[in-house]
Amino acid sequence: MTRIAVAKGDGIGPEIMQAVLSIFDAANVPLQYEYVDMGKWVFDKGYSNGMTPEAQQTIESLGILFKGPMETPKGKGVKSVNVTARKTWNTYANNRTFQTLHGVDTVFSKAGIPVDITVVRENIEDTYGGIEHMLTHDVALSRRFITRPGSLQVIRYAFEMAKKKGTKRITCGHKANIMKITDGLFLECFYEVAKDYPELKADDVIVDDLCMKLVTRPDLFDVVILTNLQGDIVSDLCAGLVGGLGFAPSANIGDHISIFEAVHGTAPDIAGKNIANPTALLLSGFAMLRHLGLMKSAATIENALLYTLEQGIRTGDFGDRNKPALNTTEFAQAIISNFGKQPQHNPRPMLEDMPVTPTVFKLDKNPMLESKDNEVEIIRGVDLFLESNEQHNVVAEKCLKHTGPLFKLVTISNRGTQVWPKGSVFTNLVNQYTCRFESVSEMAVTQTDILELQKRIATEFKICSTELLNMWGDKKAYSLAQGQ
Ligand code: NAI
Repeated sequence: MTRIAVAKGDGIGPEIMQAVLSIFDAANVPLQYEYVDMGKWVFDKGYSNGMTPEAQQTIESLGILFKGPMETPKGKGVKSVNVTARKTWNTYANNRTFQTLHGVDTVFSKAGIPVDITVVRENIEDTYGGIEHMLTHDVALSRRFITRPGSLQVIRYAFEMAKKKGTKRITCGHKANIMKITDGLFLECFYEVAKDYPELKADDVIVDDLCMKLVTRPDLFDVVILTNLQGDIVSDLCAGLVGGLGFAPSANIGDHISIFEAVHGTAPDIAGKNIANPTALLLSGFAMLRHLGLMKSAATIENALLYTLEQGIRTGDFGDRNKPALNTTEFAQAIISNFGKQPQHNPRPMLEDMPVTPTVFKLDKNPMLESKDNEVEIIRGVDLFLESNEQHNVVAEKCLKHTGPLFKLVTISNRGTQVWPKGSVFTNLVNQYTCRFESVSEMAVTQTDILELQKRIATEFKICSTELLNMWGDKKAYSLAQGQ
């Protein structure tokens, strides 16, 4: 028996969890459940992260959390317990598999085009750190973190998973044509890892093109890997290809702790009525069983689910409206009564069990802290983000008074578009300029030189933010303004 932590969740959570566990029990799945207190009702009891210390301890000692949807209390300053859980336990890879389910009609199933796509989304970084500031009353800035170790970690997971699945193609979705440094780094890591997997066809597609191709020829894709925000959007797009969020499982995988959940919410409008569809949570349950090496249980139940769907058996939210809808409990019973039946389409193979006991160990050393990059690094200058509602030539004149012997003013941009020394009269300006100061004759400057420059510039402007201009060898570690 493998012990796992189970959090029933809020809203429809307890109903769909009950349905799924009743199916597991009927199939004699060798799991033992430790129920933990997590969710909105735990917030309401005064636990600000939405879980009790005992819940946290149980999850950390077992390494697997199977969870129902949880409500995020409304109001500023309250973080989603779902996001907190993913971040606290560093579940860096979000794996969502989208497959055609016969009985769940979509435009593709009607056209006979099979969909079988796995989207791996980086789950920690990107804009999801929520590091945001108002630079002026009119200008908001979000920081986007893409790191080399974070990217390598999730990309390596995706390649390993693709190899185990016997996938042929793995595609990186990105926007490196525009975000050359952040998405550029992710893409660079993708091809670095790809070298270790010559048996897989690794390619990349710009994310907008990817979306268009996914909705026209979804059958061309196998595994797609993306950064966090793009992955968030593309994975919901893929859910739409197979019938919506009700058919979209989700696994949040980490090295120590993994979380399996449905991606839909708590459905407050139907909570307590015993009419919710448990399929998404059940599909996430299969991902968990396979993660734990319980291949036979996963295949037995999945074949029963597929057979049930093929029979047109449904809950009220999908399928042929001319046929009666079952409630949650009846739907679970229908699946149980179909154990042993083979679906006509894509029956799952009965692979041998390979039971895995999750090993949880605390990090005493963080390997991601060690950077392998040891190129010579110098500071070439600084970008100062200034607040001003004056015209750009006035801003330039004021800056030029204070450059001193070490710096030259290279460019001024507004919302990323260069407005000085050259620009266009058609550029609309907002009250925040980014002024780039580089060292004269390309020499290195020190942080103290930059602080001195800032002191002088601060006599004219409010400096809202600063960013160093680093050079690694002969490579600029910063982007150019559009038009520069
Ligand atoms: P929702 O997914 O709960 O509901 C959207 C619509 O889909 C509703 O009409 C609902 O009845 C229907 N629906 C959802 N799941 C269903 C199911 N299994 N069977 C049948 N119908 C289903 O999204 P909403 O209303 O935006 O969010 C409600 C709450 O859920 C919020 O507090 C939100 O923060 C939370 N949430 C939690 C998530 C999680 O725990 N991973 C994910 C998304 C939202």
